[in-house]
Amino acid sequence: MHQIAEKIYWVGIKDWELRLFHGEEYTTHRGSTYNAYVIKDEKTALVDTVWTPFKEEFISALDRDIGLHNIDLVVVNHTEADHGGSLTLLMEKIPETPIYCTKKGAEMIKKYFHRDWNFKIVKTGDTVDLGEYKLVFIEAPMLHWPDSMMTYVQGPGVLLSNDAFGQHYATPQFFNDQVDRCELYQEAMKYYANILTPFSKLVRAKIDELKALNVPVNMIAPSHGVIWRDNPMQIVEKYYEWANNYHEGTVTIIYNTMWGSTKKMALAVAEGIESVGIPTKVFNLGKSDRNDVVTEVFKAKGILVASSVINNGILSDTAAILEMIKGLKFKNKVGAAFGSYGWSGENVKIIEDALQAAGIEVVLEGIKVKYNPTEEELTLCKDFGRRFGEKILSLGENNK
Ligand code: FEO
Repeated sequence: MHQIAEKIYWVGIKDWELRLFHGEEYTTHRGSTYNAYVIKDEKTALVDTVWTPFKEEFISALDRDIGLHNIDLVVVNHTEADHGGSLTLLMEKIPETPIYCTKKGAEMIKKYFHRDWNFKIVKTGDTVDLGEYKLVFIEAPMLHWPDSMMTYVQGPGVLLSNDAFGQHYATPQFFNDQVDRCELYQEAMKYYANILTPFSKLVRAKIDELKALNVPVNMIAPSHGVIWRDNPMQIVEKYYEWANNYHEGTVTIIYNTMWGSTKKMALAVAEGIESVGIPTKVFNLGKSDRNDVVTEVFKAKGILVASSVINNGILSDTAAILEMIKGLKFKNKVGAAFGSYGWSGENVKIIEDALQAAGIEVVLEGIKVKYNPTEEELTLCKDFGRRFGEKILSLGENNK
């Protein structure tokens, strides 16, 4: 238990060992935390729990530090197992305790945990008096699931924002001003790019709604990572920017190669793009972390995707990342394709179709090289890169 504000305590778990989240989908190089909070006023409220593997540790510490029977109400901001995963064990001990959640939250809890507890369904603006403080609920559907909501603690002005504004980032410290700012923003951006991008329109609408409430926000305590106490609105402003078709005007090249020909092409294409002054990053997908690459796609204006041909198709890592990019629904990015082939040569068309299906406008006809590129063909690749760079420049900053 760690006090984060007057009468408010962090009672979560720091998961130092976590390296993959959402099953095997999301890499967490710096671990993560599952943040749950207790507000100890005249009434005591527990907001969220922790992931299932930590349920015994969590409940035992909660019993020791707070006393389970002193908990007057439980708030479930979000059902997903990393936050709702200790509910069954908790509710075995205090089965009559009311659970405040959204309508969707109650439905999901029933489907996930196959239990029917004392649900109190809340909507935006509903409140619970704790004594000096008051909890105000704010529905936040799709941030990150349909059931999600935030809980604002009126009095100290603490927003318990659940997934929004979080980071998969385990640190000994609790607050944003105590940790390395570069690491913090790297993890916050990776989280946004890989999890929240498809919901960007909703993110902006929710931020507008939060601002319109015109209430003091002195601290934003998400359900993962560190708590924003130093200028907490900085992450809200950052989310607003990230949710607005974000890019940094750069190019990201992602490729797979079997015998190095597509790699040679990628490096020549990068040289061509940089010749017009656009910073370009190059990733071999077979050797790169896919979530880090997705973050680089998020930052780029131009996406070049390449693969050699295998079995009349493209290499599996390229296919996988194109599927991820499609699901994340990036907006306002342009792309093109290239790659080497031996005899059938389907790669460029497959990639171009996938880019278009992902909403990325293909602005340049792709290029192919048979077998191993000659010096002349590498010059053509360089020229292809230069023309792609010029396309990006022609779009201008007002395209952002
Ligand atoms: Fe951290 Fe959507 O769960």
